Amino acid sequence: MASSTKRRPGKGKKNKDKEKNGRKRDRKLNAKTADRYDLYQRAVNSPETDVDFLIKAYEQARGKKPHHLREDFCGTAALAAEWLSRDAGNSAEGFDLDPEPIEWGKRNNFTKLEDGEARMTFHLKDVRNPAEKRPDVTTAANFSYWCFHERKELLGYFQSVRADLADDGILVVDLFGGPEALTEMEEVRRIGGGIEYVWDQKTWWPGSGEYESAIHFRFKDGSEMRSAFEYSWRFWHLTEIKDVLLDAGFVSAEPYFEGTDEDDEEAGDGIFEHDPRGENCEAWIGYLVAKK
Ligand SMILES: C[S@@+](CC[C@H](N)C(=O)[O-])C[C@H]1O[C@@H](n2cnc3c(N)ncnc32)[C@H](O)[C@@H]1O
Repeated sequence: MASSTKRRPGKGKKNKDKEKNGRKRDRKLNAKTADRYDLYQRAVNSPETDVDFLIKAYEQARGKKPHHLREDFCGTAALAAEWLSRDAGNSAEGFDLDPEPIEWGKRNNFTKLEDGEARMTFHLKDVRNPAEKRPDVTTAANFSYWCFHERKELLGYFQSVRADLADDGILVVDLFGGPEALTEMEEVRRIGGGIEYVWDQKTWWPGSGEYESAIHFRFKDGSEMRSAFEYSWRFWHLTEIKDVLLDAGFVSAEPYFEGTDEDDEEAGDGIFEHDPRGENCEAWIGYLVAKK
């Protein structure tokens, strides 16, 4: 059934409360003084919601608790840090090619943990490399695997994830879709301190699937941090990704969609439930859970 519900990257319960969390000193920030990783984490990342979902998905699939996480395309590894905070028996590995977000993450996300990075292993490597220890859960968050433009590249990535997982491991990837996801448009959202986060869906080419987007931040003093982050993705549809996961040898690949916030039909409620068919919203976000 069609509905007018609108959910896009960075929208939904995951990020709905961010405006309230603005700090007083943020009002003095501008495009020159602000830290783009700090703004990114506040606007985009929702490690609590993601980790809640990863644990729930594994428990539903395997009837026990997961302990070892692999975060691909980890960036600042906010998700892995949250994972470690949940249980002293948890461990994690993060893969990213760029040392800058990793170093930022070490300074800002891991110092909050009592034992710091002791249970975390960072790999400055391509995600197609094996982990040190076979993961219970591997995840690629914030649509990062859309950097693979060709089907054979995506297939190769999923094959390497499958080979690397523990025998009863799962892969969880997030994704978005709906007609509005393919519209060239900007979505603006306040993230506190008078700062605006702008999700800019710049261009989509239907013939190749190429999809270009960017994140900008606008400040109270009128300055703008333009293209703080830029993405050159292929837009993958859920059913294509599901087919590639099955071709890679996963025994199942099931979609989970976010419910609607009861006070705001344009926002999600942070609760993702299994639904094999989904609902035809203008824009939606979800996860695919693939069992090895
Ligand atoms: C969109 S960011 C996502 C960061 C993080 N997952 C998050 O949710 O905030 C994508 C990250 O993937 C990294 N990356 C891109 N291609 C990669 C590859 N083939 N192997 C490892 N990391 C890669 C980039 O350096 C970048 O930090």
